[in-house]
Amino acid sequence: MVIAGPSPGSGEIAGSIARGLGADVIVAESKTFPDGESYVRVPQSLEGEEAVVVQTLSPPQDTSVIQAMLLADAVLGAGARKATLVAPYLAYSRQDRRFLDGEPVSVAVVLRALHSAGYSALYTVEVHKEASLAHFPGEARSISPYEYMARRVKVEGDLLVLAPDLGAVGRAERLAKALGASYDYLVKHRDRVTGEIVIEPKTIPAEGKTVILVDDIISTGGTLAKATKLLYQQGAREVYALVAHALLAGNALERLEEAGLRKLYAGNTLPKREHPLLEYVDLGPLIAEVLSSG
Ligand code: R5P
Repeated sequence: MVIAGPSPGSGEIAGSIARGLGADVIVAESKTFPDGESYVRVPQSLEGEEAVVVQTLSPPQDTSVIQAMLLADAVLGAGARKATLVAPYLAYSRQDRRFLDGEPVSVAVVLRALHSAGYSALYTVEVHKEASLAHFPGEARSISPYEYMARRVKVEGDLLVLAPDLGAVGRAERLAKALGASYDYLVKHRDRVTGEIVIEPKTIPAEGKTVILVDDIISTGGTLAKATKLLYQQGAREVYALVAHALLAGNALERLEEAGLRKLYAGNTLPKREHPLLEYVDLGPLIAEVLSSG
């Protein structure tokens, strides 16, 4: 039984996952109390069922996390024998270590909280760092979407897949292999206090190439916009981007447009936005396939 959580973006992907599983969907009821507290309710018995709660941890992330926790208790209270969480976007995954003294390892806190709320299994799509999932005391899996998304990419020319930093080079390798293209990476630094990004002017064999930048997430668009501009300066013919999670904070789309990006392919792990730059790939069938095999 699939239970669609109330966070923005959960309903559509929950429906797609349920179709892939051949399962029924129950839409969780929700409201916010006048004082700001969250309320959820599963409106039918789940006696003896395995409950797959689909709740992406989309903005407002803190509310989404709390609703996911409340849903674990709700489905177990409604009789489910097991509660599995599918959180296509795992919020807080980028704070995966103490970059500055006194900081928390936020992803560890969130994963432990979800487990203690009642989930014994957790599935997500392309967590920022795979190793973070070790903080979840149960079964946890991150689904890589790049090979699946490659089938939907329609670009022509001499392809080069690029990661914006060394940490994402594995992503570039997966996508490049699926597209039969070469791959490389740029060198990015981020100021941990101001958030300012600097991409080193590393020379990439971009001359005349159709470049596809690949990353796990786009938030403000700073990383991809800077990389796009650098690549055009280095002679790229066209620049595209592909990400698992399109958070698109603030004026991210305008920044990408202004940089000259041709298209942004994104998974539907977060609420969709309408924009000529954007093309979404439904990851529901892929998640369903992994859930049924796992
Ligand atoms: C960071 O390591 C991530 O992989 C992304 O590159 C980053 O979070 C993107 O953020 P923004 O779009 O704000 O540059």
